[in-house]
Amino acid sequence: MIVVTGTSTGIGHATAQELARRGFHVLAGVRREIDARAMSGTNLEPVMLDITSEFDIAALVTRIGEDPEKRPLRALVNNAAIEINAPVEVLPLSEWRRQFDVNLFGQVAMIQALLPALIKSRGRVVNISSIGGKGAMGVYGPYASTKFALEAVSDALRREMEPFDVKVIVVQPGAVTTPMSTQVRVKAERITSAMTAEQHGRYGELMHAMVSQAESYINKAVSAECAGQIIADAILSKRPRTRYTIGRDAAMLSILFRLLPDRLLDRIIARSLKAHYPSATK
Ligand SMILES: NC(=O)c1ccc[n+]([C@@H]2O[C@H](COP(=O)([O-])OP(=O)(O)OC[C@H]3O[C@@H](n4cnc5c(N)ncnc54)[C@H](OP(=O)(O)O)[C@@H]3O)[C@@H](O)[C@H]2O)c1
Repeated sequence: MIVVTGTSTGIGHATAQELARRGFHVLAGVRREIDARAMSGTNLEPVMLDITSEFDIAALVTRIGEDPEKRPLRALVNNAAIEINAPVEVLPLSEWRRQFDVNLFGQVAMIQALLPALIKSRGRVVNISSIGGKGAMGVYGPYASTKFALEAVSDALRREMEPFDVKVIVVQPGAVTTPMSTQVRVKAERITSAMTAEQHGRYGELMHAMVSQAESYINKAVSAECAGQIIADAILSKRPRTRYTIGRDAAMLSILFRLLPDRLLDRIIARSLKAHYPSATK
């Protein structure tokens, strides 16, 4: 059995389908009945799972422990997340907290609940981070900080689990075509419209540039199905790497973030954004 969280759309949906196709029984986390009905097929079992709900997580632990076929839990794919991009000054603390509740504490809650079963089966934890977990461009602070934290949790957990032969794998997608990446404009408009006039003066053009740049990446984005195959390969690999990037953009940025000094990175990021400012696109 494999648990995948956040399978209503995008990478989670594609990963669940791919793992089921490869013969695993997939407990596919969804939050709505309509998504449960859509997640039907051979080897696919939808489970109601909001990763911020202790009740849902406890019900999942019971489901795994009482599996009628006594199948071991082979892997947890911690995929569910939300993305809210806003300047550090602008986003209300309640929204910072909400994003951490899902993207970090929800993932940690899943790990804590399923680790005993994974230790028993020498299974795997796959944490879906982001290339934003390695470098944070302006406006990406709230989202990237949750992913930086998930990267740290993954490093610590990998070292803790080494004696128990539980592999911990981090996946860092770049742009992947999913509702998360295609709704950037709508989400940015909500943030921008809530800004004070002063904040708008400071960040309005930066928000515009961020949206324009993100939309330009979408044209070169990897499909969710391709991302699902990479994640399934990592789960099946005999000797999985500690980290996998998805997409050429993520592979390239991963090298740049690792090698270049901050000031040089600042200049490269500023130059790549320049073409997306309103003054440049007029
Ligand atoms: N797409 C990209 O370009 C990209 C790039 C880098 C990293 N990623 C990462 O890849 C992963 C998948 O993202 P995606 O692009 O496939 O996004 P997506 O299509 O928006 O899917 C996100 C999934 O998370 C679920 N979710 C949200 N809050 C939840 C909660 N509290 N409990 C349980 N499920 C919840 C959503 O369910 P509902 O439908 O019920 O809301 C949905 O199924 C995320 O970790 C994301 O950060 C994506």
